[in-house]
Amino acid sequence: MLEARGLSAYYGETEALHAIDFGLAEGAIVTLLGANGAGKTTTLRAISGMVRASGEVFFAGKPILGRASEEIARLGIAHVPEGRGTFVRMSVEENLQLGAMTRRDRAGIARDFEKVYAQFPRLYDRRRQQAGTLSGGEQQMLAIGRALMLRPRLMLLDEPSFGLAPRLVEELFASLKDLNRELGVAMLIVEQNAALALDLAQEAYLLETGRIVLSGPARLIGADENVRRSYLGY
Ligand SMILES: Nc1ncnc2c1ncn2[C@@H]1O[C@H](COP(=O)(O)OP(=O)(O)O)[C@@H](O)[C@H]1O
Ligand SMILES: [Mg+2]
Repeated sequence: MLEARGLSAYYGETEALHAIDFGLAEGAIVTLLGANGAGKTTTLRAISGMVRASGEVFFAGKPILGRASEEIARLGIAHVPEGRGTFVRMSVEENLQLGAMTRRDRAGIARDFEKVYAQFPRLYDRRRQQAGTLSGGEQQMLAIGRALMLRPRLMLLDEPSFGLAPRLVEELFASLKDLNRELGVAMLIVEQNAALALDLAQEAYLLETGRIVLSGPARLIGADENVRRSYLGY
């Protein structure tokens, strides 16, 4: 479904990602791990057209590198950025509506509102509230809900557990699992919490200073003690 070949990315003159190759099958959950500054966020930005990049990226067989972010979103890739990016002065409902901005199928949008509220009942309870008044966990749910309103085939999630209490993190990851199973939406998840991400994902890639140093089935990577000690810190 997604395939990157020789993908590099740049901030001004600086190359932050050095010709990486990776892929993701239809409906799969893949995690991208690595220390701070390894290039995880940059990889997601390169896929969604938010940073200058070279190489090739194919989504459902179509080349997407060099296309505008809005067009990439319309093809079915929803990006849940680091720090969530909800509109704090708008209500929960308005934030969700924004997620559906590129769609015209009113009936489908109404159904997806119901799905999001069913998955995250707290968002329904707070639908008229300003997003800025939500707790960290609720804002993360809102960011994911907004991405779902695009009816994506692939979600790019950048550190969804960041800043959340452990109990909320578990709840959130359980929701991601449900959404993957029920809607068939594929997920590329960047995480600091490697143990949790390896538990959810089928495949994992490990990034180090802009290069992939290891990849394989998540189960095997999580079980390798050397890898855990050297790269994952647990
Ligand atoms: N906006 C930016 N301008 C310049 N350099 C950046 C910018 N964002 C990230 N970088 C650099 O790119 C590299 C990869 O960063 P990033 O993708 O944010 O890492 P991660 O998400 O794995 O922590 C780092 O060296 C970082 O300093
Ligand atoms: Mg990052």
